[in-house]
Amino acid sequence: MLPHVLSLLSGAGMLALRRWTAGGVCQSKVRLDGKTVLITGANTGIGKETALDMAQRGARVILACRDTTKGHAAADDIRHRTGNGNVQVKKLDLASLQSVRALAKDIQENEQHLDILINNAGIMMCPKWKTEDGFEMQFGVNHLGHFLLTVCLLDLLKKSAPSRIVIVSSIAHKHGRIHFDDINLDKDYKSDKSYSQSKLANVLFCRELAARLQGTGVNVYCLHPGVINTELTRHLLPNWALKIVGTLLMMLIKTPQEGAQTTIFCAVDESLANVSGLYYSDCAPKTPAPHAQDDAAAKKLWDLSASMVSLAETQQSVG
Ligand SMILES: NC(=O)c1ccc[n+]([C@@H]2O[C@H](COP(=O)([O-])OP(=O)(O)OC[C@H]3O[C@@H](n4cnc5c(N)ncnc54)[C@H](OP(=O)(O)O)[C@@H]3O)[C@@H](O)[C@H]2O)c1
Ligand SMILES: *[C@@H]1O[C@H](CO)[C@@H](O)[C@H](O)[C@H]1NC(C)=O
Repeated sequence: MLPHVLSLLSGAGMLALRRWTAGGVCQSKVRLDGKTVLITGANTGIGKETALDMAQRGARVILACRDTTKGHAAADDIRHRTGNGNVQVKKLDLASLQSVRALAKDIQENEQHLDILINNAGIMMCPKWKTEDGFEMQFGVNHLGHFLLTVCLLDLLKKSAPSRIVIVSSIAHKHGRIHFDDINLDKDYKSDKSYSQSKLANVLFCRELAARLQGTGVNVYCLHPGVINTELTRHLLPNWALKIVGTLLMMLIKTPQEGAQTTIFCAVDESLANVSGLYYSDCAPKTPAPHAQDDAAAKKLWDLSASMVSLAETQQSVG
């Protein structure tokens, strides 16, 4: 009897723990028929799960991917599981400004509207690598590439208002600092320092962009998705080790589907219709670190980013 009760209790405990781990769930049943959603880094991880959800809601979904072979496999899977045939793959390497400009041009010329832009792609704690344009890789991909892509798509987003921009950041922003005097960390590269700088840049960009877009009907949201079992840790440990850790920690780590919930919430939830510039986690607003609420730093980062990607004058005065 006692062992039976104990196993029942521990079973219930495990379930409760698992539910706590899973975190918030987006409850919105909003349909997206006739809407267009673009998601970066949608060939795997939470980007793919987000794309699947958008397709289930009836949207035209564009997967903007560096590895388009993986992208086509993801698109096939999404079409198959949702019955939505309107899922496209487009090439985007965020480590190349030329690739970013080419995608933005393609979208502007060929899409009638763009209702939701989701800046999801990210690289974490890689070695000291440089992008094609000579920027430090994590700042270049996680922030600068998305900065340029977003600014280049603003006209279309404004034309499509009410529209939304969702920026996937991380709780790691709390340890971050923007090293304005050494933005590429040439003097002292540390992979975690670089990652948290890039994720802080995501939150500051959200804030400054929301301010510039006031009154346009284009809202901006940023978020921490949780701790999720994805390929993000690929530069930290070999694959077999990750599989073991992932299995051991399954009780405490979100599945990609659970990890996509806050992104989906920011992209569609009706309750956010009149809100912009805030930070979310577990499908609820959260307060980001104090240094992520620094308006002067957000403005300074915008100016620095604009000059790094050689933004035209007309684009800099956006909003
Ligand atoms: N997993 C977590 O626990 C966690 C926690 C906090 C925040 N996040 C954030 O969540 C977002 C999604 O990450 P994930 O966990 O789903 O990781 P993931 O499984 O590694 O997916 C990352 C995606 O980004 C793409 N990507 C990387 N470099 C790129 C580039 N240069 N150009 C275009 N795409 C590129 C990858 O494409 P390829 O496969 O082609 O490389 C992949 O599709 C990231 O912004 C990450 O910082 C994740
Ligand atoms: C947003 O504002 C509009 C116009 O003021 C209002 O009609 C609508 O109810 C608001 N929506 C929410 C969710 O607050």
